[in-house]
Amino acid sequence: MRTAVLKALRSTDGYISGQSICDALDVSRTAVWKDIKKLKEEGYDIESVSNRGYRLKSAPDILEEHELYSIVDTKWAGREIHFFEETDSTNIKAKQYAEEGCKNGTLVITENQTAGRGRRGRNWISPIGANIAMTLVLKPDFEPKSAAMVTLVTAMACAAAINKVYEVDAKIKWPNDIVLDGKKVIGILTEMSAEIDYINYLVVGVGINVHPQDFAPEIKEIAGAIESDGIETHRRSELVCEFLREFERYYDVFCETQDLRNLKREYERLLVNIGKQVKVLDPKEPFEGKARGITDTGELIVDTWDKTMAISSGEVSVRGLYGYV
Ligand code: BTN
Repeated sequence: MRTAVLKALRSTDGYISGQSICDALDVSRTAVWKDIKKLKEEGYDIESVSNRGYRLKSAPDILEEHELYSIVDTKWAGREIHFFEETDSTNIKAKQYAEEGCKNGTLVITENQTAGRGRRGRNWISPIGANIAMTLVLKPDFEPKSAAMVTLVTAMACAAAINKVYEVDAKIKWPNDIVLDGKKVIGILTEMSAEIDYINYLVVGVGINVHPQDFAPEIKEIAGAIESDGIETHRRSELVCEFLREFERYYDVFCETQDLRNLKREYERLLVNIGKQVKVLDPKEPFEGKARGITDTGELIVDTWDKTMAISSGEVSVRGLYGYV
């Protein structure tokens, strides 16, 4: 019911009368008043003026279900949300929900992730209240060989969402790190439960460094937060909501062909490496070349001095000639 009251408050920039909330929700005035009181305790600034009603002046920076449900306007992504004040890893929790038969597009999100996982067995650390740690559960119809591309689709959604909310120019460092001013601000970890030709489910975990924070010495050179100097601050729920919209839009396009042919140009527009010299950290023998774009299946096309190569993300990583980007 708090969701419905919040939605009613958010349906106008002005005042909404207590009576019209009661009528719309078919509840008593006391019930509405109790919810307004709870919302105020959570940090929602709600003005009440006699004969005019209630007006939402501002909302706190929280990620709880009612905050998200009252703003999410997608068709299927994030229509079921599970918020945890604290959990080990949203990817682990998401897998549990998937095993229990949750809906496609279920979102698991937490304020405090205590055992966050990064790619290649690394840890992912998120200070409480500063970041977003969330995971989407997907139950696709495509084959396991297409699953790796979902990470690139997710990267597109992340970059597009940041750029929209913050009016910045975030880019993708191939295949799926999001960089802003040369620093990694988002990491994505996709995991899959599958049989040889059938996907049971995917969980797509997204970690976003939002508010300014101190990074551990070993990642200080690479990691950054979106809201660095001079960037206007936003509620994290706004960014989650925009991410869900962008994800749904791109993923629906991806599912039509089950590859990136219709997203490739847009991905390349967001690609920080395009047209740049890159160092390909091939375990057999590192080499350099110029990144030209991606294939329909997401490999990075690199022109070396003597040939053109399509590089697959599972095998190598890529760096700029003079550092991370
Ligand atoms: C990377 O190494 O770049 C990927 C980091 C992915 C972190 C996110 S935070 C939400 C989700 N839950 C996890 O345990 N990991 C992912």
